[in-house]
Amino acid sequence: MITRIVRLMLRRPRLRRFFWRRWYQFLARRQPQNDWVFMNYGYVILDGGQTPPRLDGEHEAQRNWIQLYHHVASGADLSGKRLLEVGSGRGGGAAYVHRYLGPAETVGIDLAPAAVAFSNRVHGGDGLSYRQGDAENLPLAEASFDVVLNVESSHCYGSMPRFLSEVRRVLRPGGYFCYADLRRKADLAGLRADLAGNGLTLVREENIAPNVLAALKQDNLLKREYIRAHAPRWLWDPLNTFAGVEGSAIWRGLDEGTTIYHCAVLQKPA
Ligand SMILES: C[S@@+](CC[C@H](N)C(=O)[O-])C[C@H]1O[C@@H](n2cnc3c(N)ncnc32)[C@H](O)[C@@H]1O
Repeated sequence: MITRIVRLMLRRPRLRRFFWRRWYQFLARRQPQNDWVFMNYGYVILDGGQTPPRLDGEHEAQRNWIQLYHHVASGADLSGKRLLEVGSGRGGGAAYVHRYLGPAETVGIDLAPAAVAFSNRVHGGDGLSYRQGDAENLPLAEASFDVVLNVESSHCYGSMPRFLSEVRRVLRPGGYFCYADLRRKADLAGLRADLAGNGLTLVREENIAPNVLAALKQDNLLKREYIRAHAPRWLWDPLNTFAGVEGSAIWRGLDEGTTIYHCAVLQKPA
């Protein structure tokens, strides 16, 4: 019953925004443990031609979540650039990219103030900072970033076209938008139309659902155990669903092909 009510809410833009903001705010307050810094479904390299990123030992346990960031952010050269991540969550992705891929400055924006406070406390400093803000109304100057990164966040927004016009506004001419997120397969045509309708030029796109599903499979046990160890009993089911463990709607959708994981790079004309 609760799952059905949540699903109905998520179809309506204003309720969707309201729900996700509350949920991420709640999670950052309720589960403040420092070792939980990613909230995506991960990426396993399936193509022998791709080189796995080299990680320090402390980051090895987070490999699949990091690899999703690495794959998406590799769509643009970040070295010495000004990077914006929209939907930075608990900050681990922006921290990885800032530390390993060499931007001069990285700013993470997230709607949930508690997630922003958590991110600044755990990762902030040395050219990396996090600010509260809305993807659909970014509190940032025009043409102020070389690259905008967006990982598994846009499904929460009320309006994708509004977000994309904000991306276009804050990007410098010639700048890149590196993007990845889940969608129902039935909504892919609409997503493509939104991406194409914003004056950004498509550089590449792919469906990385097999890589993401492989990560869900690899991390299944780890996530279940982590949730049991750190969350109260009444939160286990919602967190397992959210984490995409075996049997969840996310897992089934990716497995059956009714859910895709779209990954794209777009460029603002110079
Ligand atoms: C699934 S989490 C992904 C977080 C992070 N990208 C990662 O991969 O770990 C989605 C994030 O998007 C943020 N978010 C949702 N709606 C937003 C909005 N309108 N503006 C900015 N951030 C938003 C949420 O607060 C949440 O932190």
